[in-house]
Amino acid sequence: MRRKLAAGNWKMNGTSADLAQIEALAQAHSSALSEILIAPPTPLLHRASQVAKSKAITIGAQDCHKRERGAHTGDVSAEMLLDAGASYVILGHSERRADHDEHDEDVRAKARAALAAGLRVIICLGEELEEREADNTLDIIGGQLAGSIPDDISSDSLVVAYEPIWAIGTGKVPSIAQIGEVHDFIRARLEKRFGHATAKAIRLLYGGSVKPANAAEIFAVENVDGALVGGASLKAEDFSPIIAALDES
Ligand code: 13P
Repeated sequence: MRRKLAAGNWKMNGTSADLAQIEALAQAHSSALSEILIAPPTPLLHRASQVAKSKAITIGAQDCHKRERGAHTGDVSAEMLLDAGASYVILGHSERRADHDEHDEDVRAKARAALAAGLRVIICLGEELEEREADNTLDIIGGQLAGSIPDDISSDSLVVAYEPIWAIGTGKVPSIAQIGEVHDFIRARLEKRFGHATAKAIRLLYGGSVKPANAAEIFAVENVDGALVGGASLKAEDFSPIIAALDES
């Protein structure tokens, strides 16, 4: 059985005042069936992990460097994230791919560094609107999956997030059939590459404009094991009903 995962990606939002949101989530969902993850910005990681400590919430980071250490001013290594209290790191988010020119091979190298340090990785895949309109979605996702996911994963250390770029922060969501098609495809590709037992235990998240109003129908799709949520994860009052919908799915 795959444990459902509700993951909140705070992106570049949040200061210490927002730690209260994590506290509120921890209180409201102390007996949640789903795993709840918050990925705050790096400066908040340590305090967020203190707030979440021994509560129902795990903490993740949003990026890491591909090297273990060294002369890389401004960068943060996987080991540092772990040391600050993170147990996951999100890699290959489309905003990193676009803003920092990250390609599949960079994502793969970062994932290898993160896994070596003992972090779990959430690797993001997603197509542009033009790629979907040209009917290239599955080719794009297949290529990103082959290029971004390293060989040495386990079902426990890898989570895959399907985030269509045109659905992020736009309020637009693919149809239920489109989400189902991509998630089935990802599961099949993982099976081909890692074998049935491993592939069937890897969690697949949908991300892109997940809100309290659409969460339940998205979570009813086969092979959707949770969500990677941006805007609606910033406030406990918005994220809470999404977690509740996942628990009920
Ligand atoms: P939104 O939920 O704000 O669309 O963001 C999705 C996302 O990019 C999560 O990583």
